[in-house]
Amino acid sequence: MSSSRGLATRAEELRGLLNRWLHEYHVLDEPSVDDAMYDRHYDELVELERAHPELVTPDSPTQRVGAPASEKFQKVRHLTSMGSLEKVTTDESLVKWAEDVQKRLDTDEPVAYVIEPKIDGLAINLTYENGLFTRGATRGDGEVGEDVTVNLRTIPSIPLRMLGDDVPALIEVRGEVYMPLSGFRELNERLIAEDKKPTPNPRNAAAGSLRQKNPAITASRPLSVWAYGVGAHDGAEFHTHWETLQWLKAHGFPINPFAERLESIDDVAKACREWERRRAELDYEIDGIVIKVDDYDQQSRLGALHSRPRWARAFKWAPMTATTRLNKIMIRVGRTGALNPWALLEPVEVGGVTISRATLHNEEDINRKDIREGDDVIVQRAGDVIPQIVGPAGAHRKGTKSFRMPTHCPLCNTEIVKPEGEAMHRCPNRACPSRGLESLINWVQAAADIDGVGEQAVRRFWELGLVRSLPELYRLTKEQLLELDGFGDISATNAVNSIEASKQIPFRRVLFGLNIPDVGWVTAQNLARHFGDVDRLANASQEEIMECEGIGPERAEAIAEWFADPDNRRLVEELRALGLRFESDPEDKPVEGPLTGSQYVITGTLDSMSREQARAALEALGAKVSDNVSKKTTGVFVGESPGSKVAKAQKAGVPLLAEDDLKALLQR
Ligand code: IVH
Repeated sequence: MSSSRGLATRAEELRGLLNRWLHEYHVLDEPSVDDAMYDRHYDELVELERAHPELVTPDSPTQRVGAPASEKFQKVRHLTSMGSLEKVTTDESLVKWAEDVQKRLDTDEPVAYVIEPKIDGLAINLTYENGLFTRGATRGDGEVGEDVTVNLRTIPSIPLRMLGDDVPALIEVRGEVYMPLSGFRELNERLIAEDKKPTPNPRNAAAGSLRQKNPAITASRPLSVWAYGVGAHDGAEFHTHWETLQWLKAHGFPINPFAERLESIDDVAKACREWERRRAELDYEIDGIVIKVDDYDQQSRLGALHSRPRWARAFKWAPMTATTRLNKIMIRVGRTGALNPWALLEPVEVGGVTISRATLHNEEDINRKDIREGDDVIVQRAGDVIPQIVGPAGAHRKGTKSFRMPTHCPLCNTEIVKPEGEAMHRCPNRACPSRGLESLINWVQAAADIDGVGEQAVRRFWELGLVRSLPELYRLTKEQLLELDGFGDISATNAVNSIEASKQIPFRRVLFGLNIPDVGWVTAQNLARHFGDVDRLANASQEEIMECEGIGPERAEAIAEWFADPDNRRLVEELRALGLRFESDPEDKPVEGPLTGSQYVITGTLDSMSREQARAALEALGAKVSDNVSKKTTGVFVGESPGSKVAKAQKAGVPLLAEDDLKALLQR
């Protein structure tokens, strides 16, 4: 086979075989050849393409990884928009929806539904031209997403070329990228071993993996995809959703095997309940069931409301709970000296994740819920929030003692105080070791967000006595790091460089990281804006501090006290001498805009943007964004798994707003 015609034929044959085997392995889960056979053919193709680069085609399995790392993802407009789903949470609201569907159609017209697991990953749009995968994008705001083609190409279950001869000239395939739970656990083990921050949940892990600048990293992540629909298309015709799913399957796309067509809403309700029980059997997280009217003609007659189709609903379950033994109530002293109780649990699986700890808020809350050591308790995991203890399970009390906070700090033995009107107990000792350690951890993880220096590294530096304060962190040398296990030339250089680079963080972040009592992100930002530099702040009286947005008398007093302490003044001077910034940037100054005068709160996870992005966008229009709901709050934007702010808003009579309202506001 030496003629070039012969080589081209062989290359095509190899591509065909290899792509078929990949499909059998990753999509059908029925491999027909062993790895050695695959590798032999793969190597032959690599060899052939190396000798004859002109034979390389975009759908060659050798071309999955190989694109260069990109600086930025380009924006792409979807050909047809990607909507979102209205949710229902009870059988009654499900049945009510079905009645509404029936009312909008002809009353006696039969309606069939297709149900699919609602995968907790991220939506993507795959464009195929004449069967070839040409572009893949994230959902973005539903109209415009980000071009992540090179990363999507590395996912082996996404076909680079559709199967079959009858491929359409153009089609958008919609689906969900997700990380299987098994892969998620492995990834986190790996990250922890490399002293990197583990990812909080599979959905975040999938999103982070897909947004890597370097496709080789994406390729190393265990991502997969389920296709669940089509967008724009030219050259194919579909009449029902069920037919579309079968078509996608026949053309090489992974279709969730639990999709089902049902002819009555009662069967749908039954199936939703059944899946609520069975969700832990799956190797991926689902947060509900998607229900779609099967017939496309019916779908188009039903239409959509605010880009949420009337022909579909997401049946979402109440957060997952489980019962387990509360072995012990532990205490952690936080960076401001607050004593945070937490529960050491008998490990239990909740929603596919094993948990062994849960937060407990404070003594009052523990006793109000009547939670005792040794009791069986109900734990709850809601989305990505830390597990909570709902209360004791059943009437069989095993624990006898009700909980009391220790009278002395578990670390420095200083007597604990509980300031009047506060829920938290505190260790008043400013030199308490735990406070220093926790605030250093807060510095590297949140305030300065230093790459390559995580919690574990800080704990080690602390234990070795290498770093016990912020100035010591900034004086750390590469030589010191090289003496530690786990640091090589590259990681030590990187760590020292990122510590150095973190001196450039803006004043507001420095303020947040200084560990001033009750100064969180928002207060730090307000203070930075109001005072402009640290000297004005340090010399301000309590009254002057109270003039700053959102600061009441107690907080003002605590801040003034903090700056009055000579140790703290010395710390500021030392950090300033080391090159950290103690003056505001212009960007800290409030902006005048159409939303000036309004004040918003954001709670829960937003679909189309992060909370920080939403905050920045609102602030850019002049709005204030605060962490606390008060009578002055204009409105609260509520995302997925919102917190207690919703109840507070309802109590204060503050309007609750949806993500769509936010988008509308930002567009205006
Ligand atoms: S259909 C018009 N099917 O849920 C919207 N979505 O809020 C059509 N999702 O962004 C979406 N599994 O990320 C559909 N089987 C499924 C799904 C699914 C997960 C996600 C998707 C979308 C969100 C809708």
